[in-house]
Amino acid sequence: MTVVRIPPVPRLAGRVSVPPDKSITHRALLLGALSDRTVTIERPLESDDTLATLNAVEACGATVDGLLGRRVEMEGRGLRGLSPPPMIDCANSGTLMRLLTGILVGQPGEDVILDGDESLRRRPMGRIAAPLRAMGAHVVTAPGGTPPLAVSGGRPLAALDHRLEVASAQVKSCLLLAGLFADGETWVEEPAPSRDHTERMLAAAGVAVLRDGERRVGVRGPVASLALPDLEVPGDISSAAFHLVAGALLADPEVRLAGVNLNPRRSGILRVLERMGVRVRVIPGPEVAGEPCGDLVVERAGTLQATEVAPEEVPSLIDELPLVGLLGAFAAGTTVVRGAEELRVKESDRIATVVAALRALGARAEERSDGFAVTGARRLLGGGMEAHGDHRLAMLGAIAGLASVEGVSVGGFEAAAVSYPGFAADLAALGAVGG
Ligand code: S3P
Repeated sequence: MTVVRIPPVPRLAGRVSVPPDKSITHRALLLGALSDRTVTIERPLESDDTLATLNAVEACGATVDGLLGRRVEMEGRGLRGLSPPPMIDCANSGTLMRLLTGILVGQPGEDVILDGDESLRRRPMGRIAAPLRAMGAHVVTAPGGTPPLAVSGGRPLAALDHRLEVASAQVKSCLLLAGLFADGETWVEEPAPSRDHTERMLAAAGVAVLRDGERRVGVRGPVASLALPDLEVPGDISSAAFHLVAGALLADPEVRLAGVNLNPRRSGILRVLERMGVRVRVIPGPEVAGEPCGDLVVERAGTLQATEVAPEEVPSLIDELPLVGLLGAFAAGTTVVRGAEELRVKESDRIATVVAALRALGARAEERSDGFAVTGARRLLGGGMEAHGDHRLAMLGAIAGLASVEGVSVGGFEAAAVSYPGFAADLAALGAVGG
């Protein structure tokens, strides 16, 4: 385990080109493997998570040339042409495990075991296994509904109209992908709209995506084939968010983030920052991969104001909620996140780990069953905290260190590589000094 100490800095300034979007990279690699053509993916994210997906599609027979981080050319096997190996390692990635399961139920062949690391082995898979079984698929979880999963394809699938109890892009995507192989219209309804990258990419690949309002989406199966067009992966707003928060606390004169995906279903953090009194200028650019994109420029805020994050906005900033907790530690008043019990089943129990980290650094934070509350002060003392194998916790610790009085030591900092291997280098380019 690597312990990294991040000392405080008086100011940050400059421009960062944030890494490519993780969610979009996973989807491009998976849909590319199912395509009838050779697909060129420009700037797929190089990270531990997306490497697991690249390895998985290669193991299933897709021919891959090139490098993550640069360009990948993939010769797809066609919608029903994957030949999965007996065992696939999904590493730390819930997105890979859930989306790939939706794909494998439509492939001919034997049982496949999908497994992952210690963190993934704690995450709920009953939420995909139950509806997939209702479609006629054979999907078995470990007792308790967790990985490993045993998945077999080759069974006839019936369409399903499924209502999600918790908004989840991963579960929605899994069922839409399975719906490509099912007979009839498969619909998924969510309590609040989650990210729609799968829907956008399926439409670009030639699938008629059915919509009924913001919260219901479907596909009509069986779909004959996919043809994903060549695409470039835009910058990840979830990675940009760390620099936005660092900028809100320390920018002088400003921090600019270039080429960020601004999909409204992902950009809830911008609305929360605005409510807290942070000025983020949005400079729209051209669409990338069918997603709205642009640059973000953040200036240091005056006094931050506490805010409340309501349940219906949670999906639009689900991965940024830990950062809202950190901002809350500097804001006047009590910042409350509600309706976010889903955080308990992320890469760590992010309600427990965020509150523990903030308290260890001197903040007044408390757990709630469905979120947390943080009462701010003008300063954060600093100290030591653990990442608990969670990439977003590791990076949160670094941002806290920069804005703290005494600096922060982050145990398990290497977890950052799951989504953002260049994080420390990008922070250093803005003026941070790591150790
Ligand atoms: C993701 C969806 C989100 C998010 C995760 C990536 C995706 O999870 O937390 O980091 O790529 O679909 P949900 O399934 O809770 O929406």
